[in-house]
Amino acid sequence: MRIPDLVLMNGVKIPQLGLGTYKLSDNTAQVVESAIEVGYRHIDTAQMYGNEQEVGRAVASSGIARSEFFLTSKLDNPNHKPDVARRTFEQSLDDLQTDYVDLFLIHWPLPMYYNGDLGATWAVLEEFYEQGAARAIGVSNFLEHHIDQVMETASLRPMVNQIESHPFYPNTALHLYDRELGIVTEAWAPLGRGGVADNQVLRSIGNQYGKTPAQVAIRWGLQRGDVLFPKASTKERQRENADVFDFHLSPEDLLRIDGMNQGVDGRTGMDPDKMERLEGLIPLEN
Ligand SMILES: NC(=O)c1ccc[n+]([C@@H]2O[C@H](COP(=O)([O-])OP(=O)(O)OC[C@H]3O[C@@H](n4cnc5c(N)ncnc54)[C@H](OP(=O)(O)O)[C@@H]3O)[C@@H](O)[C@H]2O)c1
Repeated sequence: MRIPDLVLMNGVKIPQLGLGTYKLSDNTAQVVESAIEVGYRHIDTAQMYGNEQEVGRAVASSGIARSEFFLTSKLDNPNHKPDVARRTFEQSLDDLQTDYVDLFLIHWPLPMYYNGDLGATWAVLEEFYEQGAARAIGVSNFLEHHIDQVMETASLRPMVNQIESHPFYPNTALHLYDRELGIVTEAWAPLGRGGVADNQVLRSIGNQYGKTPAQVAIRWGLQRGDVLFPKASTKERQRENADVFDFHLSPEDLLRIDGMNQGVDGRTGMDPDKMERLEGLIPLEN
């Protein structure tokens, strides 16, 4: 299986297709092992997912050199304060059984939290980068104004912005803003959390090429120039999702997919400006 790389603004190569791991729990190691056997080398995890240990175990037991992998993790919502960010980043490295991650992201901007001081949190990611403990750093779910806020005090520009994007919610304005700044967009939920699978527009497009609706949705994201990591629990679906490099969607196909855009009604996740996943968190000053 040959997966092309994109090149981030600092020259680091990132495989354009990977495996997502959100909602994988007890079976994470088994699912990641299966994906590695299929040929996936890019794995997207997060502190929030509670499965970094399992991802680390699968990678370590593969017998494949660490340098062959591209591992991403993300700073969880309660961990924005600089000393907490440093401590939990170390824990992520331990759990992933590695000395470095390939990419580390601020998972959500949480504007109402930690006085919205995104610049202070970003400065800690810059430390990880300077130390060589993160080969690239970026953000996730950042809207234009969050990116602008970070850039006010940043030494380094975010290299990646990981945002929700699929045919029902293409998120095009933000994708274009990223591009203007040289930021690579990673499209999360590229299958609309599975919702694309029975879509008739994607099915009829796919029939022209002998491809499934999921493969058409993935191909659409790849042709936009985004990085994608559909989550799939079976080897069969992992193979299917990676079998997308032998066809090309035509301009007419792309126009039909444009017609699937439902705007914010097509969104499966939270509005980043209203993300309130803070219940049960220990106050930061404690
Ligand atoms: N930064 C963020 O805030 C954020 C938020 C959400 C997600 N993410 C990342 O993005 C990744 C992908 O997003 P996601 O997991 O939410 O959703 P997704 O990849 O769009 O969809 C996953 C769903 O699609 C199903 N599926 C997979 N391949 C399929 C196929 N070929 N045909 C039909 N159904 C298929 C999966 O089922 P099975 O698993 O049963 O195979 C699962 O139910 C996550 O895993 C995570 O790494 C990041």
